[in-house]
Amino acid sequence: MSGVLARPDAEAADRLRAVQAPVQARLESVLREMRRIVTTDVPMVEQVAGHLLGRRGKMFRPTLTLLASDLEGTPEPRAVTLAAVIELMHLATLVHDDSVDHSAVRRGLPTVNSMFSHQVAVIMGDFLYSRALCALVAIRDFDVVRVVTDVSNELSIGEMRQLAAIETLSFGEHEYEMLIRAKTASLLAAACEAGALCGASRWREPLARFGDRLGMAFQVVDDILDYTEDESVTGKPSGNDLREHKVTLPLIGALPAMTAAQRGRVEALFRDDHPSDEAIQEVMQAVADAGGIDYARGVGERYAQEAEEALAVVPASPARAGLVDALAYVTDRRR
Ligand code: IPE
Ligand code: IPE
Ligand code: MG
Ligand code: MG
Repeated sequence: MSGVLARPDAEAADRLRAVQAPVQARLESVLREMRRIVTTDVPMVEQVAGHLLGRRGKMFRPTLTLLASDLEGTPEPRAVTLAAVIELMHLATLVHDDSVDHSAVRRGLPTVNSMFSHQVAVIMGDFLYSRALCALVAIRDFDVVRVVTDVSNELSIGEMRQLAAIETLSFGEHEYEMLIRAKTASLLAAACEAGALCGASRWREPLARFGDRLGMAFQVVDDILDYTEDESVTGKPSGNDLREHKVTLPLIGALPAMTAAQRGRVEALFRDDHPSDEAIQEVMQAVADAGGIDYARGVGERYAQEAEEALAVVPASPARAGLVDALAYVTDRRR
C-alpha cells in the first residue's frame, strides 16, 4: 500500500462507483428508507429535510454497512434500515458541525445554518438524530441498538473535543487522535460492526477494528484535503480549518519543522479573527513546505495498513473485496 496517499487520483469518483456497484440497488433503498424515516407533517421540517436529502453525499457509511452485512453472502433486509439510520446520524452530525464551524457550503449547497439559521440547524440535527434512533429501535436487536447508541454518545464527545483543537497551537498529535476517533472513526466502526451483526455476526470484532482504522484514515485524508483541494473538487471550501483556527494533523506535523518566520505567520493568522485569503494561502504553503502534508499522509497510510490487517482473518468473498476497495478509495479520494 506504499504511496497511495501521495497519488492524486482523477478516477476517485469512478472508484467509489465501483465500490458501490454490488450494493447500488440497496443503496437506492437506503435513500428511500431515509426519506420514510424523516417524513413528518411539519412544513418547516419537511422543507429543511427536502433540502438536506436533495443532494446525497458519498453514502460511504451505508456502503460499509451493506458490505459488512453481506460478508457471509446472507445479507439481512434490516441492514437497509440500519444503513439509513447510520447515514441519518451522519447527516445530523454534519448539520450540527456546520453550525458550530460556521460553515456556509456543504456538498456544493448552502448549509442549513446559512440558508435558514443556527436555531434551525440545532433543532434539525436533533430531529434527524431522534428519528434515526426511533428507526433503530424498530430493528429490535439489542446488540445493534447498543453499538449505535454508544456511537451517538461518542460523536457528541467528539464535537466537544473539537472545541479544544481551536485556537490552541499546542494541540498535540495524541489529542488529535482521540478527537478524530470520537468524531469520525467511531461512526465508521459502528457502520461496519452493526452491519456485520446483520448477517455476518462472527466477523463483528474484526469489522469494528477495520472500521475504526478506516475511519481514522478517512478523517486524516479529510484534513489533508482541506489543505490541498479546491471547493470545486470537495464541495466545501478549502482552507476552512485554518480560517476557523482549527489545528489538524498537517499543521501538527509541520509546526516542529517550521522556521521562525513560518511559525510567526501561523501565530499571526491565529491572532486574526478574520484572516485574509492571502494569509491563509501563505500558511497553507508553509505547512506544505515544512512537510506537514507528507507527514499526515504517512500517518494516514499507517491507519490504512492497520485496516487492511484487521481484515486478514475474514475469508475471501465479493463483499470482503468490496471493503478492501473501499479502503483503497479512502486513501486516494479527493472529495
Ligand atoms: C464529512 O463526511 C465529515 C467527515 C467525517 C470528514 P463525508 O466526506 O462522508 O461527507 P458526505 O456525506 O460525502 O457529504
Ligand atoms: C468532521 O470534521 C465532522 C464530523 C464528524 C461531523 P470536519 O469539521 O473536518 O468535517 P467537514 O470538513 O466540515 O466535513
Ligand atoms: Mg466542519
Ligand atoms: Mg474537514
